[in-house]
Amino acid sequence: MNVKERLADYAEMTEEALNRYLPEIDCLQKSVIKAARYSLSAGGKRLRPALVMEFCRVCGGEPETALPAACAIEMLHTFSLIHDDLPCMDDDDLRRGKPSCHKVFGEATAVLAGDALAMLPFQIIAEAGLKKTLSQDAALKIIKLLGELSGVFGMIGGQTIDLENENKQPDVSVILEMYRMKTGALLEFCCKAGCIAAGAGAEKQLAAGSYGQRLGLAFQIIDDILDVTADEKKLGKPVGSDKAEGKFTYVSAVGMENAKARAAELTEQAKAFLAEFSDNEFLNGLTDMLLIREF
Ligand code: IPE
Ligand code: IPE
Ligand code: MG
Ligand code: MG
Ligand code: MG
Repeated sequence: MNVKERLADYAEMTEEALNRYLPEIDCLQKSVIKAARYSLSAGGKRLRPALVMEFCRVCGGEPETALPAACAIEMLHTFSLIHDDLPCMDDDDLRRGKPSCHKVFGEATAVLAGDALAMLPFQIIAEAGLKKTLSQDAALKIIKLLGELSGVFGMIGGQTIDLENENKQPDVSVILEMYRMKTGALLEFCCKAGCIAAGAGAEKQLAAGSYGQRLGLAFQIIDDILDVTADEKKLGKPVGSDKAEGKFTYVSAVGMENAKARAAELTEQAKAFLAEFSDNEFLNGLTDMLLIREF
């Protein structure tokens, strides 16, 4: 089983479904649809949809059952990126290899495009429940989880801590708590939502969530490392943005070598939770691949 090939398969399913969920429509408000589609279709690793569908598969479900939740989290993640790039936040002009949403459509439309991509996810999952392609019980649980992990105790909470600590030197424990929320929470959602879509029980959900949390911390530490070391063309977003914005990252706190070691350690810890799932070869390979990624 080839990790890159399965990732590409999941990405293809995701692209097709995203287009279906948010088609280009000629209407008075077409600018906001265009802006949302611009950021959504700009590429990106499509890691989150792959995690949702794969966790559904390793729990004995069909990946298609988890496709609405997979698209929902990719939309919500894209909303977080559009807003994250705004001048009032990280003020970054490049995202996924293209000018950031607000550079092309203006700030107001970018804010609204982000808002739209924060709302549609809940509608999509509810619709899947109503159509019963996803059980209604699973749909409700996934909606609740998405609200919880993207809101004030999840991604939005983490982004708040991030912004409030600009030009400060927070304690390492605060940095890690911020990472757990701003990045780990949405990854935790992916892993748990896949299990829920498959109808898996509490033990599998717990293991998947623990995996997602460790992966999330490692993922953000590597993101911070790449902000220093990456090639901007490959990364598709500005290099050196954290320093320019006065962000005190895990790398600034403990140094590059310690940060790399911690990311590797968290990756091993994450993988240990995969033992709960049989047929976990792809997930193990993907976790290793994310540690050594260049973008
Ligand atoms: C970027 O996420 C934001 C972080 C949480 C670090 P990704 O690195 O997954 O971005 P895309 O989806 O591939 O563009
Ligand atoms: C942001 O972290 C995580 C989000 C919730 C968007 P960063 O600000 O480091 O993400 P990038 O580097 O801009 O993708
Ligand atoms: Mg940020
Ligand atoms: Mg940023
Ligand atoms: Mg970053």
